[in-house]
Amino acid sequence: MLQLTNKHILLGVTGGIAAYKSAEIIRRLQEHGANVQVVMTKAAQEFITPLTLQALSGNPVHCDLLNPAAEAAMGHIELARWADLVVIAPASADFMARFANGQADDLLSTLCLATNAPVAIAPAMNQAMWHDPATQQNLQTLNDRKISIFGPGEGSQACGDVGPGRMLGPDEIVELAAKQFQSNILDGVTVVITAGPTREAIDPVRYISNHSSGKMGYALAAAAVECGAAVTLISGPVALETPDRVNQIDVESAAEMHQSVLDQLGICDIFIGAAAVADYRPILAANQKIKKSAESMTIELTRNPDIISAVASHEHRPFTVGFAAETQNVEEYARGKLENKKMDLIVANDVSDKEIGFNSDNNAVSVIWKDGMKSIPTTSKYQLSRILIAEINAHYKK
Ligand code: PMT
Repeated sequence: MLQLTNKHILLGVTGGIAAYKSAEIIRRLQEHGANVQVVMTKAAQEFITPLTLQALSGNPVHCDLLNPAAEAAMGHIELARWADLVVIAPASADFMARFANGQADDLLSTLCLATNAPVAIAPAMNQAMWHDPATQQNLQTLNDRKISIFGPGEGSQACGDVGPGRMLGPDEIVELAAKQFQSNILDGVTVVITAGPTREAIDPVRYISNHSSGKMGYALAAAAVECGAAVTLISGPVALETPDRVNQIDVESAAEMHQSVLDQLGICDIFIGAAAVADYRPILAANQKIKKSAESMTIELTRNPDIISAVASHEHRPFTVGFAAETQNVEEYARGKLENKKMDLIVANDVSDKEIGFNSDNNAVSVIWKDGMKSIPTTSKYQLSRILIAEINAHYKK
């Protein structure tokens, strides 16, 4: 079973007779749950129309780099961040040459430079063009840059030649695309992640909470499971689907989250606290709805347990990773929390910027540990999660 549920695949189509197969690739990707956006080069449009690929993908097809209307809808940087994986199929000899040289002379080549997502190409060309030393040198350059190369296959070609250069079939391309999301770096490792806000009841209809959407924690859970971990996600109330193969426990309050987390200790190797846990709760939650009467009212609050501190000082202490949501002095405050709460790593999140942090699709963070730090620029929360899981794994294995 291929795992592409909710994955954002950016399909690049370049000029070659195999472009007709792109239509089938879109269908196959969608059948496995992926969302597909298509970018076509000028030459690709000589072989298949944008209208066909638009109808199949259900999204507008992107063709121009310098089109103000298109940029206003979804700019090239936004598109580059949207992608979880870029697949270029077919990739012509000309595109490989431009990509290998780092050119940015059309939308597709520019996106390849701008994206943080992995890029894969499925070459398609005449066998002599494939064998040409220039193409082979470009192939080597792309290999060195860790670009995944799907194929090419061998056989009879549209021009009558026989040899290597045929684009792989849609099923093979989709299978290889799905494999890009899987690794085994966390095989046999149990990961517990908290996500979302907590709700602290004032009465049966009112509560104190915050703006956390759960997107960051859910993306981390998806990325960890794709690396082979057994993942339990302890989630506050959010409107997100449970990621595939993740065991989810739903909670409301900080007290419930605290208890659920403690229940997991002993079987947990890595704990990641991405939840925005309320620091305080009303001392007394009224049994009945509080009626409006006085001009003002006071709610007395008491401190909630600090979940991550309890985890980090537990006898079955897992490798402990926290988040710090800050609006100023981000690094300094995050370092303070790293020390005070005895964590192994902390992910510092500047939530003063509405484009990143609470409820946004993108995020930019700094990962901080005792004697080091690494900044990760703005990217999608899923893409960021893949980078964070690799970083956490490297520190955990040390
Ligand atoms: O959910 P999203 O909309 O995607 O937004 C993501 C996020 C901004 C919520 C997330 O990236 C983030 O920064 N989460 C931590 C928010 C937070 O509560 O930060 P804090 O600095 O107050 O807490 C520091 C750490 O202590 C956090 O790991 C937190 O989970 C933990 N904590 C806090 C209070 C408490 N009582 N118990 C805790 O375990």
